[in-house]
Amino acid sequence: MKKSIFISALIGAVILSGCKTKEENVKVNPVDEKKVVEIGEETSKKLLKTLKGELVNAMKDSPQKAINVCSQKAIPLTKKVEEEIDHGIKIKRTSFKYRNPANAPDSYEKEALKYFEESLKETGKLPKYYIQKVKEEDGKVYYRYYKPLKVAPVCLTCHGEKKYIDETVYQKIKTIYPNDKATGYKVGDFRGVIRVSIPLEALK
Ligand code: HEC
Repeated sequence: MKKSIFISALIGAVILSGCKTKEENVKVNPVDEKKVVEIGEETSKKLLKTLKGELVNAMKDSPQKAINVCSQKAIPLTKKVEEEIDHGIKIKRTSFKYRNPANAPDSYEKEALKYFEESLKETGKLPKYYIQKVKEEDGKVYYRYYKPLKVAPVCLTCHGEKKYIDETVYQKIKTIYPNDKATGYKVGDFRGVIRVSIPLEALK
């Protein structure tokens, strides 16, 4: 009896929290979840602000120049934000339809991407986040916080339908990324995620 009340309470808590976590993570205590969300949000917002700042500045010159900024600076800028945030936290951007092969998703990331895609299809809305607990290659256990990204009008310059992308920009993309999958998007589409990996010690 006690056990079934406990389970119902757990299920209720998961439904109420409005966020699906991996099954084994049903055991994630709410205090941890709150911290993971806090750190995950702060980190991903900082990354977005940094990348958008650079992008907007570069776009003032020309989209051709902005392509160089994105291709040469996105990963170093991500590393810089990691260093500023510190505590062993790692950040990555990933997508099913990625441009840079270095951003290709691993199996856990695929699971998270699928969750957002399916939720959007079912409810018309993107959930705010997704959390996993994963043992990474370095042998340490991390919480992974995923924040979904939507396509805004400014993104179409480089990720929109081919007919809307400037020819020089398109050629440049094809030269740098011969296997680019990241075009054909429309405003409001689910573009991918920011993944923030947080070591358990960082929650203290
Ligand atoms: C000036 C061109 C340009 C614009 C505008 C642009 N991007 Fe990108 N985007 C790129 C390039 C180049 C890459 C690959 C760089 C990298 O991450 O290594 C990229 C990579 C990404 C990635 C990482 C996954 C992948 O495909 O490799 C995401 C996510 C992303 N862009 C989302 C967006 C969103 C959302 C917007 C609008 C807010 C946007 N981009 C606007 C050029 C652009």
